[in-house]
Amino acid sequence: MSESPTDLQALRTVRDLVRWGASEFARAGLVYGHGTENALDEAFHLVLWRLNLPFDLPAVYLESNLTDGERLAVVELLRARVLTRKPAPYLTGEAWFAGLAFHVDERVLIPRSPIGEMIGDQFLPWLTRPPTTILDLCAGSGCIGIACALAFPEARVELAELDHHAIEITERNLRRHHVEDRVSIAAGDLFKPLKGRRYDLIVTNPPYVPLGEWALLAPEYKHEPRRALEAGIDGMDIVARILKDAPAHLEDAGMLICEIGGSQAEFEQRFPGFPGAWPEFANGGDGVFVITRQELKHWLDARGAAGKKGKK
Ligand SMILES: C[S@@+](CC[C@H](N)C(=O)[O-])C[C@H]1O[C@@H](n2cnc3c(N)ncnc32)[C@H](O)[C@@H]1O
Repeated sequence: MSESPTDLQALRTVRDLVRWGASEFARAGLVYGHGTENALDEAFHLVLWRLNLPFDLPAVYLESNLTDGERLAVVELLRARVLTRKPAPYLTGEAWFAGLAFHVDERVLIPRSPIGEMIGDQFLPWLTRPPTTILDLCAGSGCIGIACALAFPEARVELAELDHHAIEITERNLRRHHVEDRVSIAAGDLFKPLKGRRYDLIVTNPPYVPLGEWALLAPEYKHEPRRALEAGIDGMDIVARILKDAPAHLEDAGMLICEIGGSQAEFEQRFPGFPGAWPEFANGGDGVFVITRQELKHWLDARGAAGKKGKK
């Protein structure tokens, strides 16, 4: 980013700054996937955010001349994106999920789970009736559980999270969305703080990135907490524990919905014959399974029996 102050004088309008930012991002080889998918969208988002303008700004305002102060502030932000390689939401402190804004910083994963689309559809056709108790396991910013609480106003929601730094952000998001009275936080390791509690629905986006893949991630992803992404050699360490313990925390007609993202090959290798369903997403993303308690229990029992037979 070598532009001199004289060069910057050429950047007069909102449109100029978006174009310049996109060129700089492309030149620097930035990686996207934290709310936007390409250089132009990323630059557009950052420029409008810095200028306190709405993202659906009518096109006519793109030609507005900016003050020197505004130009400098925008250029500084775009430069920070290139120099730090921080994903845009860590620079703005805000990420969007299921149509809602969440506070984020480097203590939590940036929300992007395709489960957001399922919440928007009220989990239809998978759920046959609205859940009255919901657990968001591995809650991070709290985005999934909070979006569920707003989608199902009659439900009681619990958010479970191990990391106390992440829990500070979760609490802030509960206040932001005014759901503190219906949503509680359980601090601890997976189901351990939830002894004896059962839910109609458990939704989870746990860490599932294999160790070797995590090591090779782009710098943008390395700004996210390692604990939110990496989960052992094949990425399945946490998922295995969730599958084993979920039946004890689901009501008889309950359901588990879990994201495993791009780790489907590792999942199939570790859990052959898994009977869950894999929803398709209109807005992109995949790697989410849905399974009823009955199906999960049946499969776990059969696996256990086969394991014992194998040992004889
Ligand atoms: C992939 S992030 C998901 C965050 C959020 N649900 C979302 O979709 O943006 C996984 C979260 O699980 C938490 N976590 C990791 N191991 C855990 C454990 N053993 N028990 C509870 N939470 C855990 C991490 O701290 C992180 O916040």
